Amino acid sequence: MRLGKFLASAGVASRRASEELIRAGRVTVDEQVETDPARQVDGTSTVLVDGQAVRQPSQRLVYAVNKPTGVVSTARDPQGRPTVVSLVPHPPGGARLYPVGRLDIDTTGLILLTNDGELAHRLMHPRFEVPKTYRALLGQPPVSGRAIRALGDGVVLEDGPTAPAAVRALGPDRLELVITEGRKRQVKRMLERVGHPVKQLERVAFGPLKLGDLRPGSYRRLTAKEIEQLLSAGSGDRRR
Ligand code: URA
Repeated sequence: MRLGKFLASAGVASRRASEELIRAGRVTVDEQVETDPARQVDGTSTVLVDGQAVRQPSQRLVYAVNKPTGVVSTARDPQGRPTVVSLVPHPPGGARLYPVGRLDIDTTGLILLTNDGELAHRLMHPRFEVPKTYRALLGQPPVSGRAIRALGDGVVLEDGPTAPAAVRALGPDRLELVITEGRKRQVKRMLERVGHPVKQLERVAFGPLKLGDLRPGSYRRLTAKEIEQLLSAGSGDRRR
């Protein structure tokens, strides 16, 4: 496999950003700096970026899970409630899975789990700005054009103004919102702010990855290509 593709498949960065890292002389293969993204590497090659070993693409696990209501999105729960991590079989070799970000206990939909803490951290970092798409069922219908415009401009919350959301009405009491931040209870607080308490909230996409027909409580492993696409989704598109 080409070195650029190897780094992208391992989730280091997008294909383009991986090639830039290589050209910048930040990548070594078997202890030699390699500046050619087309260099062939395989499972026996030792590849380092900025001196850190790159996990083989085949060792990286990323799962998409459809979180049901009543399930917490932390790795462990002191109160003993079911966790998203318990919905997926333990990876071999005792590796731990980390949720990428959080959904409230009563929010359903797409959440990612991975055995790669750095990947989880990167996808959650505000700088990375991965768009997240939510569908909300609202109280106090019908939702007004004014409320939609206010959400689209960004609203002021207790912890400061939000970035503008992309908003689409799906019906008099249903909205789809795309936000790039990930503050606590952000969507619910934004909607409360414009006069519509949320009755149900579902995350239907994380960057380019869609929930699709994954049933509540079920999971699937992402392909190397899907991981690469996720890493290209954030405006940050950079390593660390
Ligand atoms: N915004 C919320 O208010 N809750 C969630 O679970 C996710 C986003």
